[in-house]
Amino acid sequence: MSKVRKAFFCQNCGNESPKWVGKCPACGEWNTYVEEIIQKENKSSSLVTHSEENKRPRLLSDLAVQPNHRISISDPELNRVLGGGLVPGSVTLVGGEPGIGKSTLMLQLALSSLKNVLYVSGEESGEQIKMRADRLKISSETCFILTDVSLDAIVNEANKLMPGVLIIDSIQTLSTPALDAAPGSITQIRACTAELTRFAKTRNTPVFIIGHINKDGQIAGPKVMEHMVDTVLQFEGDRNHMFRMLRSVKNRFGSTNELGIYEMGTNGLQAVENPSSILVQSEGQRLSGRSVGVIIEGIRPLLIESQALVGTSAYGTPQRSATGFDQRRMNMLLAVLEKKQGIKLSQKDVFLNITGGIRVQDPALDLAITAAIVSSMQDIAITEKLAFIGEIGLSGEVRPVPRIEQRIEEAKKLGYDKVICPDIHGSQKSNIEIVPVRTIRDALRHIFG
Ligand code: TYD
Ligand code: MG
Repeated sequence: MSKVRKAFFCQNCGNESPKWVGKCPACGEWNTYVEEIIQKENKSSSLVTHSEENKRPRLLSDLAVQPNHRISISDPELNRVLGGGLVPGSVTLVGGEPGIGKSTLMLQLALSSLKNVLYVSGEESGEQIKMRADRLKISSETCFILTDVSLDAIVNEANKLMPGVLIIDSIQTLSTPALDAAPGSITQIRACTAELTRFAKTRNTPVFIIGHINKDGQIAGPKVMEHMVDTVLQFEGDRNHMFRMLRSVKNRFGSTNELGIYEMGTNGLQAVENPSSILVQSEGQRLSGRSVGVIIEGIRPLLIESQALVGTSAYGTPQRSATGFDQRRMNMLLAVLEKKQGIKLSQKDVFLNITGGIRVQDPALDLAITAAIVSSMQDIAITEKLAFIGEIGLSGEVRPVPRIEQRIEEAKKLGYDKVICPDIHGSQKSNIEIVPVRTIRDALRHIFG
């Protein structure tokens, strides 16, 4: 007999507590604890089936590996983000804000790339899905739709249909009657994910699970869920921009940091094959405060435009704002400029924007950002066809970044004729001018004289 017990769960991060607490000790959020009735975890609920033989220690060299048959997807971006195709029996969580395009991405996948898909929706009716499919202008004879929210019924149908791929839209709508908790609560999400994972592993069927994320950009509730699935993909982007980015944040079958770029159009999501040429926009105009840097996302180099606006502050405390870039890092760059270059920025408002709605983490953009700030401050435009590569250290030195040749190659491909980058050794035969710099002072002297 399983005993029913109650516990309190943080609705933000999934932390469990035997009694109610005002502030979550795990994530620091206030008033997020809600009581949920849970069943004692069934001891035999392990996801991997163990035979007698598997219970004894074995030599690693004796273990045989079945060759990984990956299912290739015709969507090149998703294929790459997954690490080169879909692994049978894998569970993939697709997280993103409401309205970003998760359902569209999954429906496109179901219709165009794969055979024999069961698409389960608890959010939309069959007619709505049909309307969306018509809009996407893809028809498929092998896509089944099920609109249900009961996990048991879904697993039952899936067992009968034996689909090649199962898609769940979304985990927050599912519930199992075995638990008393409401759909979307931590206990329900955990139980449903465990059940779906079990289905994937026993049937060797890939499962995609859509999950909404909360305002902080975390997958709502289930930090717990991230541990249970094999792959976590984040779908992000500014809803006011056309571009959507699919990022892999966890991948048991491939590398993370892979980035897929899509464009949302009237006929759904289109893969952007050559993003650099789109992300650098104001070609042909010489404007102050803009510069171009080369970053690497996953395996791909990308040219990114940074725009800065520096103005005299009307208030005692100057305003600082950064879109698409870490504001603390921008403050650090401003401090380096002030200390090492003597550029007085402490009484200036500084606004920074990375165009295209992309969020950049690669520190190789530091040099480009610094150049944009100084360009705006002095109101001198940077020569066109000049790209920047380099991280900036606290003492004003320009530090080397990985895969610099690949970045230079990308700039060359897009018609840039000069690159300012860290001092690199080795022969450079390419017909692009390379200006090696050691410090930020060298770089600024080269651009602004
Ligand atoms: P949706 O996929 O429903 O987002 P999610 O499942 O993440 O909540 O749709 C996202 C938005 O995309 C919606 O506001 C409408 C828009 N959209 C287009 O612009 N073009 C299209 O072809 C489709 C299908 C949707
Ligand atoms: Mg949706």
